[in-house]
Amino acid sequence: MAARKPLIAGNWKMFGRQASLSEIKALWESVGRAAGGVDALICPPACYIGQAAWAAKGTGVLIGAQDCSAVQDDSARTGEISAAMLADAGARYVIVGHSERRSLHGESSELVRRKAEAALAAGLTPIVCVGETEAERTAGRVAEVVGGQVRDSVPDGNAGVVVAYEPVWAIGGSSTPTVAEIAEVHAVVRGTLAERFGDRANATRILYGGSVGPKNAAEIFAAEGVDGALVGRASLKAADFAAIILGHPAAK
Ligand code: PGA
Repeated sequence: MAARKPLIAGNWKMFGRQASLSEIKALWESVGRAAGGVDALICPPACYIGQAAWAAKGTGVLIGAQDCSAVQDDSARTGEISAAMLADAGARYVIVGHSERRSLHGESSELVRRKAEAALAAGLTPIVCVGETEAERTAGRVAEVVGGQVRDSVPDGNAGVVVAYEPVWAIGGSSTPTVAEIAEVHAVVRGTLAERFGDRANATRILYGGSVGPKNAAEIFAAEGVDGALVGRASLKAADFAAIILGHPAAK
């Protein structure tokens, strides 16, 4: 089986301005060739994707989006942005089903699956996010919740999909699961994918996300079954994001 190329993705969320796009070149200047062993991705707010793609030209930094419409046809959908438009603007990936969208915007796994399908149809790689809340973890329901989200959110043709395991309680905070806990849930994700897709599930990259920073990245990358990270806060500044990328053994 070919090795899965690690993916280290930065999710800028609703932060940054045009001036922040200078971080893209700065990132490349810091990581340069070392990043050849990994896919380094930045997902800025949608209005900056075109500019971000220009800023990333000539570097190895990839650009992605944070969400897309589930609607595939050009149609009257005020405020929506289609996956095809994001691809046209220069995005290569799109995050779907982030817990902030599931909880604050009421997105169901069924909607997330349709968004992922729209992404695939437009030639984008969807990063499908899954993860349990603190209450679900305390109740011992991690495998049930995460397994269910993987079953319901990942489209049938999974070949080009990335899954990001992001425990909701670890996002934007200071606590992360232990390396053993991360490995345990990654095995649940891989097992659930294997139930649906057999050996093809081996090709799917599974990222960890939630309070990844320069200090803990190397330890998390070493966890069994972790194929990279989805990074929020620490991706906004090139110096921090570069330190995370350089913490990956494949970026040496
Ligand atoms: P964080 O966010 O790194 O700021 O915890 C991660 C995410 O929400 O993707």
